[in-house]
Order: sequence, then C-alpha cells, then structure tokens
Amino acid sequence: MFNILENISLKPHNTFAVEAFAKRFVEISSAEQFKNLLQNEDLRGEELLILGGGSNILFTEDFNGLVIKNSIGGISITKETDAYVIISAGAGVIWDDLVDFCVTKNLGGIENLKLIPGTVGAAPIQNIGAYGAELVDVFESLTGIFIQNFEEKTFMKDECKFGYRSSVFKTDLKGKFFITEVRLKLNKKPRINLSYKALKDSVEEEGIANPTIKDVSRHVKNIRESKLPNPSDIGNAGSFFKNAEVHKSKVDELIKIYPDLVFYKVDNEIMKIPSGWLIDKCGLKGLRKGNTGTHDKQALVIVNLGGATGKEIYEIAMFVKEKVKNVFGIELIPEVNII
Ligand code: FAD
Ligand code: EPU
Repeated sequence: MFNILENISLKPHNTFAVEAFAKRFVEISSAEQFKNLLQNEDLRGEELLILGGGSNILFTEDFNGLVIKNSIGGISITKETDAYVIISAGAGVIWDDLVDFCVTKNLGGIENLKLIPGTVGAAPIQNIGAYGAELVDVFESLTGIFIQNFEEKTFMKDECKFGYRSSVFKTDLKGKFFITEVRLKLNKKPRINLSYKALKDSVEEEGIANPTIKDVSRHVKNIRESKLPNPSDIGNAGSFFKNAEVHKSKVDELIKIYPDLVFYKVDNEIMKIPSGWLIDKCGLKGLRKGNTGTHDKQALVIVNLGGATGKEIYEIAMFVKEKVKNVFGIELIPEVNII
C-alpha cells in the first residue's frame, strides 16, 4: 500500500538544495494512509519527519529515520453564504496553487500571500505572512493526527496560538502532530489590502483606479521576483531569521547612532526591526564564503551558490548572527527549521 524507500537523497526535496540522506522515505496521499503507516510494527520507535515542500528546512546532516513526504491533495468549497466561503484543502496541496484557485474565483484573503513556496499543511506551522497579510487573518480550522496515538483532532483558530512566524505546531506540538487538512474563510466581496508600503507604491505606480485581487497578486509576484532568489536557480529558504522584536528602549538607543534605522511598532512596548536591515548595516549584504553567502538584493536570505553543504550554510548563518549580536546587541532567531 505504501512504498518505503531506503537511503534516499533529500536534495530534490529541500529548496536549499543541500545533500542529505534519509534512512527511509515514504510518500503518502491520504490521512488514512498515514494512520496505517504508523501502525506498521516495523516502524515502532522510528524517528519521523513530516516534509512538505522543504522550503523552510535546513538539513545539516543525514536523517536517521523515516521522512514522510506529504502529498495529500484536494481543494473544495465546503460552505458558502452570500458573504464568504469556507475552502478546505489537503495539506499536500501547493500553497501557491491554492492562492491561484482563490484569485481566479475572486475569493479574497490570500492574494497578498502569492508565491510563497511550500504546501498548505505547512502554512499554519509558522503562520505564513507577507505583504501585509498573515494566514491567521483567514484561518478557520485544521485537522490532523497526533503521531503518538494516531488520534485525530480539529483545531479552531484560538487553539493554534498563532503569532508572528509561530504557532503551537512550531512550539509545544513541534514534530508531534501531522496536519492533514486546512480550512480557510475567504471573502466573496474582497477587500483590497495595500497596507504594505512597497505593495501600495507598486500598485499606485501602475495607476489602476480600482485594483482587483488579481492585480494585487500580480504586484506581489513582481515584487517578490525582484527581491527574492528563485530556489530553482539559487538554493535558499526565504528569510533565514525572523525579524527582530525588541523593547522600544532599544530603538531609542539605536536611532541615536543610526538615524536611518527602520522599525515598526508591534505594541506599546515592542518594536520590530527588519533583520535584513541589521545584516545589511553590518556590511554583510552579498557576503560570500565558499559556496554560500547572503543574497545581494536581500541580506536576510542565505543562499547556496552551488554545492554547499547544510553545515556550511548553518555556519555562515551563525557567523551573521554573531556579527549582528556584536554590532547591535540583538540576538537573531532562526525562522528556518534546522535538522
Ligand atoms: P517544509 O519546509 O517542508 O516544512 C517546514 C516545517 O513544517 C518542518 O518542521 C516540517 O516538519 C513541518 N511540516 C511540514 N508540513 C507539515 C504537516 N503537514 N504537518 C506537520 N508538520 C509539517 N514564509 C513566509 O511566511 N513568508 C514568506 O514570504 C516566505 N517567502 C519565502 C520565499 C522563498 C524563496 C522561500 C524558499 C521560502 C519562503 N518562506 C516564506 C518560507 C516557506 O515557504 C514557508 O514557511 C512554507 O510554509 C514552508 O512550507 P513547506 O511545505 O515547504 O514546509
Ligand atoms: N532591508 C535592508 N537591507 C536588506 C534587506 C532589507 O535595508 O538587505 C530593509 C528594507 O529596505 C525594508 C526592510 O528592511 O525597509 C524590510 O525588508 P523587506 O520588505 O524586504 O521585508 P523583510 O522584513 O526583510 C519580511 C518577511 C518575508 C516577507 C516580506 C514581505 C520575515 C522574517 N520576513 O521580510 O518573509 O516576504 O517581509 O512581507 O518576517 C520568509 O519568511 O521567508 C519571508 C521571505
């Protein structure tokens, strides 16, 4: 019923394109298959790793267990009113295919999240976000299976503990729960979200009077393509670190030295400083060390320029982290899942 392969290269399965081998590897296409797989005596005690598109993961060594590649498909509208629809998608659906599906049907809410790589099932893990939107804004619920006892559970929004690049699935339940299906609530009368300055500027520059969600997704695509390297050309996993969340007193301290400091208010106490700005200010944009470095248009993106190992990428990331710590006294936190 499933085909467990041995000693499989994970290079085609991670967007950093680093070499690493999985002791065992299996692809599953339904929740039932996953449950059956876990009941296999032969796999008792085996370490498991759920893999989607491999676009937020760095393999620094071989994986001495079973990699489960999630290919659970299917998109359907499960509820519809005059105002909204609930869309249900299998966790293995490509996120960007879901965005295109919704944009084509004029269902609003995820057009700003156009072109984020990876699967629907991984989207709630770090509450994907970009260009003024986050998954949490449209999230309805998700269903999955606890790995330890094969129990199924549906999580509603308030149970997921969504935060900036975070959720309960990236913290308390990391590696313990397999998301199989995600439901989103989308608007039949879309509201256009141009709250992200670069997006607003781009749309305004084109001079369209009443932009549609199709226009928004097109502009997001253009901006992303101008800044972020395409993993099929240059290995990367998007932002390597989260943006830095600091106390406002840190901003007051830094702005005296760096009047051009970029920062955003999170709440009355906390400010966010783009880590890309910090790295850039350290003179590390376009850094080159062997086959790794930082992207020359976006310092927060660590790149594999060809043939780098996961360890080399990790080392350069730690070099960047150390430099930012020394210059600014700010501790960068990786966004990428490091294995
Ligand atoms: P994977 O890398 O396969 O897995 C990530 C983690 O989730 C792993 O720990 C894995 O075990 C776990 N996981 C995966 N699927 C499941 C599941 N079904 N159940 C339980 N655990 C699971 N992210 C953003 O938020 N915003 C961006 O703008 C953005 N831009 C990017 C641009 C580029 C060029 C790249 C390469 C990455 C970018 N990312 C961005 C990061 C990445 O695309 C997202 O985090 C994406 O959601 C990861 O999906 P994936 O399927 O590739 O996950
Ligand atoms: N900046 C620099 N130098 C750089 C990079 C950035 O000065 O090398 C400055 C920019 O000029 C800008 C600010 O930093 O003023 C923010 O840059 P950008 O708009 O490129 O976004 P970001 O904060 O670096 C975040 C997300 C991205 C997301 C974009 C758009 C994080 C960690 N990253 O990047 O998400 O696509 O905003 O919303 O929050 C990802 O998570 O993998 C990812 C790519």
